[in-house]
Amino acid sequence: MCGIIGYIGKKNIVDVLISGLKKLEYRGYDSSGIAILKENKIIRHRSVGKISQMEASLPSEFKNLSSKDDCIGIAHTRWATHGKPSEENAHPHIDCTKSFVLVHNGIIENYFELKTKLKKHKFLSDTDTEVIVHLIEENYNGSLIEAVKKTLKLLEGSYAFVLLSKYDPKKLFFARKDSPLIIGLAEDEKLIASDVTAMLEYTNKFIFLENEDFGEVSAKDIKIFNLKRDSIQQRPITLVNWSAQMAEKSGFKHFMLKEIYEQPQVLRENITSRVFGEDIIFDDELKFKKDLLKKIEKILIIGCGTSYHAGLVCKYFFENILKIPTEVDIASEFRYRNPILKNNTLAIFISQSGETADTLASLRLIKRYKLPTLGICNVVGSSLYREADSTIYIRCGPEIGVASTKAFTGQLISLYLFGLYLAKIKKTTSHQRYIELLNSLYKTPTYIENILSDTSFLKHLAELFYSKKDFLYLARGINYPVALEGALKLKEISYIHAEGYPAGEMKHGPIALIDKDMPVVIIATKGALLQKVFSNLEEVKSRDAKVIALTNYGVESKSIDYKIILPETDELISPILNVVPLQLLAYYIADILGCDIDQPRNLAKSVTVE
Ligand code: G6P
Repeated sequence: MCGIIGYIGKKNIVDVLISGLKKLEYRGYDSSGIAILKENKIIRHRSVGKISQMEASLPSEFKNLSSKDDCIGIAHTRWATHGKPSEENAHPHIDCTKSFVLVHNGIIENYFELKTKLKKHKFLSDTDTEVIVHLIEENYNGSLIEAVKKTLKLLEGSYAFVLLSKYDPKKLFFARKDSPLIIGLAEDEKLIASDVTAMLEYTNKFIFLENEDFGEVSAKDIKIFNLKRDSIQQRPITLVNWSAQMAEKSGFKHFMLKEIYEQPQVLRENITSRVFGEDIIFDDELKFKKDLLKKIEKILIIGCGTSYHAGLVCKYFFENILKIPTEVDIASEFRYRNPILKNNTLAIFISQSGETADTLASLRLIKRYKLPTLGICNVVGSSLYREADSTIYIRCGPEIGVASTKAFTGQLISLYLFGLYLAKIKKTTSHQRYIELLNSLYKTPTYIENILSDTSFLKHLAELFYSKKDFLYLARGINYPVALEGALKLKEISYIHAEGYPAGEMKHGPIALIDKDMPVVIIATKGALLQKVFSNLEEVKSRDAKVIALTNYGVESKSIDYKIILPETDELISPILNVVPLQLLAYYIADILGCDIDQPRNLAKSVTVE
């Protein structure tokens, strides 16, 4: 949710922190702040609103810094949980003596209890975070690392924090539990942040901290301890082959649009790196023995938001080609519903960020049952990657727009390839069908390029419908989750109410909403259920709705008002194509409305709290 960054080195501290924060802004954007050491005094600035507002209002003391010692600092972009967005609640938070300052991501669940014990301390915010910095003050007895350790033992909940103190002005202190924190390594300078994208400008070498790690970092050195172990911990250095340019807009008006346009390349990368002739090869990323996979009798898929929708599509795909039951659950529901779990179940966790709190909690629950776990993830080195038995990376590059687009199709292609790989091992699909599906997958990048090459009709539709208050998205079968995803995209970025529904279920409720003012987007591409979709289309039309249909050449119906013609493909593959115009339609509508497309109100890209 929130984004944090710390830096120690020789560069201009304000520039490094502000540019890093801008890369993290997708994680939260209701307020932000920065604190640095200047002549061994902590100076701090915070502001409500976007980082650009905080930057524009920086007081003069943050400018004209001397290169001698003004090179250590921390910064934060917030997504409010405890306490409304305000300057007082914005991070960094400072102790009573103005000696310690801290940025935090996560939730301290027992903060109230701790706060009541800190009666002598003056609290200036409504946040849970402030309790940490007062505890550090309370526990400081000449050693900062000891004060951190003592404090951590009192905290319940999740945290990633970075602390700066005038008592040890050449070091940053850090700790993490259930919220991500990564150290960036460069010569004579170090960074520490919630996400690698904030550090790519300076390095490709990272240490992904483990749960309950804490420690200290100076320009040249790092010491990592762990609450559960006594000695200093060695953590591997991971090379991330993303470039700083990948996290730039590259001429596109928004990250979301850029990411929609990156989809052919993402799919191609996934296919060409894993498909060799008729074989699908998952090198070391898939650590399961073939014998284990052969015995799988059930698949359980868990995720949130768009990742959940990708799971729903895969249910249809897996049940079709693997002939085994596939259950899909929303992570926040799954973790509390005492699931009945049987042996020979493979549990798949889909998460772009690999840090979604509910998805990780579900993973930990499944691991207690000792079932095999597979992560489908984009962010290299994320918690999901580290905790699942195996992880397939969806190889999308950084996704910055809060509304997920390329990660959705990336998840689908990776899962489809995994499904086909499993079908071959389990011999549940004929060779001919396997080849047919593989061939259709091969063509998807080109088909998507086709869709993206002329978007004028989608722009025209956006002009016609941007002022509508409600939209209905309908589909059947494997495209039903695509209707959900289309509706989700529209509501996320344009704030227009939109519902996705199984077309056959519409007459049990949503039909009551339909009148001449309601646009109905219906997925009517070729497939086994097309005639059924047509019947639903008639029901919609006879209530005077305006019907926008995603369809193929040769599909005729007088009831369709606006046809979006798509390349024809196998029905099982069609969701990968069908979602693209829906992403674009949502984008163009939101753009006309002047919405903040990459950072929609109230949303955050990485939901690291429950
Ligand atoms: C947030 C984001 C969505 C995303 C969901 C799950 O709600 O705004 O775009 O689909 O979290 O995130 P994950 O990283 O687990 O895929």
